[in-house]
Formats: sequence, C-alpha cells, structure tokens
Amino acid sequence: MASVTGCHRDMRDQPRFKSYAATDFFGDRRAMRPPVEGTVARGQLKSDTLLYTGKVGKEFATEYPFEITRAVLERGRDRYGIYCTPCHDRTGGGNGMIVQRGMKVPPSYHIERLRNSPPGYFFDVMTNGFGVMYDYSAQLRPEDRWAIAAWIKVLQFSQSASVNDVPAEARPFLDHPELQRPHGAGAGHEGAAGPGGAADHGGTGGGH
Ligand code: HEC
Repeated sequence: MASVTGCHRDMRDQPRFKSYAATDFFGDRRAMRPPVEGTVARGQLKSDTLLYTGKVGKEFATEYPFEITRAVLERGRDRYGIYCTPCHDRTGGGNGMIVQRGMKVPPSYHIERLRNSPPGYFFDVMTNGFGVMYDYSAQLRPEDRWAIAAWIKVLQFSQSASVNDVPAEARPFLDHPELQRPHGAGAGHEGAAGPGGAADHGGTGGGH
C-alpha cells in the first residue's frame, strides 16, 4: 500500500510546465512544443490527402473530399466559366475563344475516356497541368478545383443523359419548355440554352 501511495506522489510532484508557460530550456522559450511539421490531427489524414492530391491510395478518387451541394456546383460553374471556358468552352466541347485563335485544341470532355475518368482525375489535371495545359494550383484553391471537377461531371452528364434520367413528372416539360417548370422559381435565370440550363434540369433538379 505504502509503495502505491509513494508512486502516486512522485508522479504528481515531478517538474512540469503549464501549457503556455515560458521556459529557458528550449530555444524558442515555449514550454509547449509545436507539433512536428506535417502532423495531421487524428481522423484527418484520409480526407486531407484526398483534398490535396485527388487520390485514394494510388488511384484517382471516385469520391469527393466534401459533400457536393448545389452551392458547390454553382461555385464550380462560376470558376469553370472564368478559368476553363476560354479554351474548353461552356459545354466542355473544347472549342473556346483561345482555341479559335490558334491554341491547341483540347479534347472534348464528352469523349468516352474522359467521361469514364473520376473526379480525382480532373482535380489532378488542374493541380499538375496536362501536356501543354498549365496547372491551376496557384489560381484555384483545392476546394475550388473540386467544385470545378464536380461541375465537369455535371457537364458530362448533361451531354449524355437520356430521357430515363429525367424524373417522370418532369418529362412533359422536355417537349414543352414553354410550360412552367415543376419548381417554378429560377426558370431561365441562366439565360438561354447554355450548359447551365441543361444541367439545371438533368443534374441538380433531378434529385428532388
Ligand atoms: C489556355 C487554354 C486552356 C485553359 C484555360 C484550360 N485548359 Fe484544359 N487543356 C488545354 C489543352 C490545350 C489541353 C490538351 C493538352 C495536351 O494534350 O497537351 C487540355 C486538356 C485538359 C484536360 C484533358 C486531359 C486529358 O486526359 O486528355 C482536362 C480534363 C482539362 N484540360 C481541364 C481543364 C480545366 C478544369 C480547366 C480550368 C481550370 C482548364 N482545363 C483550362 C487548354 C486549356
């Protein structure tokens, strides 16, 4: 019994520092040591790697590091419009203004190979560049690169969707766009026929 008590006392009485106290012992005079560079909080490792590399293990990710909400897609559409349309055009066909003026023609996003490429691949192209295309890691934060990747998936879907992808109750409106849209609000705010319009029907409207 006595030895247990003694041990307890030794532990309690040994020198220790309060968290933010100063000390002469370390060069930076901080008693609390900073975490080693590259330290990752518990539970963060996987999502951080995904967020910054677009990969899960060695494979391009088929999943996103955060939930893709309507707001994320709108952000993606916006950033895509600014940074990618000059070459890839609004539908992703690869016929942007700069291309029309002599830049190498990028492949269409709607070819089978790219349709089958996961979001992590598009993240990687933006992060590291591809062939003659520069990377966008300086201009676009990782979150925005993911938002664009998600928007490209919407563009791809909008070009390959079939009538069966449209919810049954919305199909009458396909043949009669002059009729009121089911959700009423927001019709036409995107302007005429652009990809945004198409995707509003197919991509984001479909889930309800
Ligand atoms: C200045 C023109 C230009 C801009 C702007 C541009 N790209 Fe590209 N992109 C290209 C060209 C050219 C290629 C083909 C490169 C090659 O084959 O050497 C390409 C290729 C690609 C590819 C296909 C890669 C493959 O596997 O074939 C993807 C995906 C892509 N770009 C995504 C984007 C995204 C996303 C943006 C906006 C963040 C963007 N690009 C902005 C010119 C551009």
